[in-house]
Amino acid sequence: MTRSFLQFASLSFAVLVGSSLQATAADDTGHAQFLKYGCWQCHGTEGQGTSAGPKLAPEPLPYEAFSAFVRSSSRQMPPFREQVLPDQDLQAIHAYLSSRPPAVDVKKFIDP
Ligand code: HEC
Repeated sequence: MTRSFLQFASLSFAVLVGSSLQATAADDTGHAQFLKYGCWQCHGTEGQGTSAGPKLAPEPLPYEAFSAFVRSSSRQMPPFREQVLPDQDLQAIHAYLSSRPPAVDVKKFIDP
């Protein structure tokens, strides 16, 4: 095994580990914000939805529509203006919701 191959292999490994750590960090931030701003109280701790609010994950509205709704909601959901919930945090929340795995199809487990 040549030295340059080893260098390449360890570099690839570092890049892989680095990018997966980065993804986890982004998820953690978004999830922390989702909990901090109380979205979970109506939308469920993972955005899965409850009787008080619709499901938001894993495919939230595109960011423009998502933020327009959150900022100006005037129905059951209280609006969260930028002074209360900065864009950066709302983007992290959106990234977190987008990163959720799809729900399990329960029909697969039911006998026909
Ligand atoms: C008091 C309960 C409550 C809280 C807290 C809440 N929501 Fe909602 N949300 C709702 C309800 C109910 C709806 C359905 C629309 C309506 O009636 O206002 C909704 C709708 C939405 C929608 C539109 C969904 C769609 O697909 O049309 C988004 C996006 C959303 N909420 C994001 C958030 C985020 C992000 C937070 C936290 C910053 C949050 N919500 C906090 C109750 C809540």
